[in-house]
Amino acid sequence: MPAIVVLGAQWGDEGKGKATDLLATTDPIDFVVRTSGGHNAGHTIVINGEKYATHLLPSGILTPGATSVIAGGVVVSPEALFRELDGLVARGVEVADLKVSANAHVIASYHATIDKVTERFLGKNQIGTTGRGIGPAYADKINRVGVRIADLFDEKILTQKVEAALDVRNHLLTKVYNRRAIEVDAVVEELLSYADRLQPMVCDTSLLLNQALDAGQTVLFEGAQATMLDVDHGTYPFVTSSNPVAGGVCVGAGVGPTRIDRVIGVIKAYTTRVGAGPFPTELFDEDGVQLQKLGGEIGVSTGRTRRCGWYDAVVARYASRVNGLTEFFLTKLDILGAWDRIPVCVAYEIDGKRVDEMPMTQTEFHHAKPVYEYFDGWKSDISGCRSFEDLPANAQAYVRALEEISGAKIWGVGVGPGREQTVVVHG
Ligand code: IMP
Ligand code: MG
Repeated sequence: MPAIVVLGAQWGDEGKGKATDLLATTDPIDFVVRTSGGHNAGHTIVINGEKYATHLLPSGILTPGATSVIAGGVVVSPEALFRELDGLVARGVEVADLKVSANAHVIASYHATIDKVTERFLGKNQIGTTGRGIGPAYADKINRVGVRIADLFDEKILTQKVEAALDVRNHLLTKVYNRRAIEVDAVVEELLSYADRLQPMVCDTSLLLNQALDAGQTVLFEGAQATMLDVDHGTYPFVTSSNPVAGGVCVGAGVGPTRIDRVIGVIKAYTTRVGAGPFPTELFDEDGVQLQKLGGEIGVSTGRTRRCGWYDAVVARYASRVNGLTEFFLTKLDILGAWDRIPVCVAYEIDGKRVDEMPMTQTEFHHAKPVYEYFDGWKSDISGCRSFEDLPANAQAYVRALEEISGAKIWGVGVGPGREQTVVVHG
């Protein structure tokens, strides 16, 4: 079968791995592909009660029989890559086959240094990045002074590229930021040290994936970050430095848009965000604390507490639009079992006017106040439900109501962290 995209419809941490798990129950997945971002992601996967976290590796690394692919649009820290692989092996996990694009850009240790220095310099305008060097690595790529994976196998070329990359950076570091210059030789040595172990994994991943699709294999493109963190379509400048939207998947993978069969937007039954930036339905009261606690809303990558708020259907409709979603997968519905009444944001009020679609400007978005509709809670534990009909009537009604206002059908619902804790709404 097909090419399936699974991506985040909100600000990340929607639980994208659960949609992957549900897909894998009906269709054996041949390839799981990451197409953007780097080790700033945080996937939690629970298998037989054991929790695993990956940041750079696709969740497919734990799917037996699937080949994991890190495509050209990803920024790769070889150090993080090996650390994650070794961590899984140390826990006795059988690690699947892994391919890395020769075109992917490399994150070296100096990118993280620059990330942190830049954030400090921004002061109160901080983005709240993960500090992993993602932004600076993409900046080098766009400035055409990036180092790519293929460069690690040619010392002469590598040295030239690192010199070019550090030239302006070092002026900035020493003259503006008052830091020590980064030495070219040290960086070259660091990067060369990864070459031997990397080499057997490196290939033309665009060719690999297109050939797989030609042969009728199933390719799953697993999004990282999310729509509202997209550098073009998110809440700029409070975004990541890549394109997590569906269009970015095609660019990052080297697979054309006409080949994609399904685009699944993963969306939580409420909303969370880490880092700075506008968030209309954010809660500052006891409900927010409860969502945070019951939902275990702590960042997998950085350990930061996530900001929490109610479901925002304006965001959902926007995600449906900019990604061309064919369906949603709704996660963490079980968490809402504690409330008598569940508010859902159906529109915004902006400077006294009701607005039904994502406002055009960032200023308006900063002024947006949620307009809520209220739904009756189900006040019970639904984590054991395995079919839509098993869900209490009020939970079914909540799902149907979200479907009505979110811009795409809801294919499945997550009712707990385990791989099997899902409910199919539309088979
Ligand atoms: P960066 O990606 O490290 O540059 O961080 C930019 C913004 O994106 C920050 O607000 C981060 O908290 C956020 N971010 C990056 N990756 C993720 C993710 O996987 N989940 C949620 N937020 C993320
Ligand atoms: Mg995450």
